[in-house]
Amino acid sequence: MASLSFCPVKMRVLFIGDIVGDPGIEAVAKIMAGFQAKGIVVDFMIANVENIAGGFGVTEKALNKIEQFGIGCFTSGNHIWNRPEAEEILNRSSKLLRPANYPPANPGFGWQLYQTESGQNVAVINLQGRTYMQSIDCPFRAADEILEQIGGRCKIIIVDFHADATSEKQAMGWYLDGRVSAVVGTHTHVQSAEARILPHGTGFITDVGMCGPYDSVIGMRTADALSRFLKGRPERLHVAEGNPKFAGVMMDIDDRSGGCISIERLLIEAQSQAEG
Ligand code: FE2
Repeated sequence: MASLSFCPVKMRVLFIGDIVGDPGIEAVAKIMAGFQAKGIVVDFMIANVENIAGGFGVTEKALNKIEQFGIGCFTSGNHIWNRPEAEEILNRSSKLLRPANYPPANPGFGWQLYQTESGQNVAVINLQGRTYMQSIDCPFRAADEILEQIGGRCKIIIVDFHADATSEKQAMGWYLDGRVSAVVGTHTHVQSAEARILPHGTGFITDVGMCGPYDSVIGMRTADALSRFLKGRPERLHVAEGNPKFAGVMMDIDDRSGGCISIERLLIEAQSQAEG
């Protein structure tokens, strides 16, 4: 995946960070409208939707709200199991992924091959970390097995690594460097500042951040979250509302080698975008 000396054929991929509830959906809508107005074209879009339904899980109704934006793949994480109806969606739709390293008795798929409108193939792999999370199957071995299955069918491979520990996410980036186009971290909802291309051509960011309300504690009402910490007991969390932002990474991928040419962090005020 070394950089090429001639102009490569590029594929532009937008990865949209965890969409939290209706404020997250509205932030995505506003930024999509802004892209359209500015003539920004994206070949393939991926969004993590595990918090889209009221902050926890996935529902058909919530997915329908973002259907119009043309997102080609929805990834998820530990909250995919919060809503029973997600199992039915996983069973019938190849567009919604759940982490591949959950034990095989679970419904759905952890990776899929997709095709863009212009006929380019792209594989998306969804994995989940284990540090400070459920002890499910090894995400590193799962990645190896999936890459073996993909074989030479697809050069452009994007990994959503839904994990809590920065160390585990960075380890996955190095583990897959040169074997996939990008490793994009999700789950912590706070965008990390170190988006980069690793030495063998894999785009990497520890966490892509959240689409949702930023006057919050990772998307939830501050008072609810504070009560949990101050009282040390369970408290129902509600999605916050103020200061909506859109978070994502825009990546240009070399169509022939699968290497990442550029990875740009996006953290955009959703309110000012609507006004502008
Ligand atoms: Fe998560």
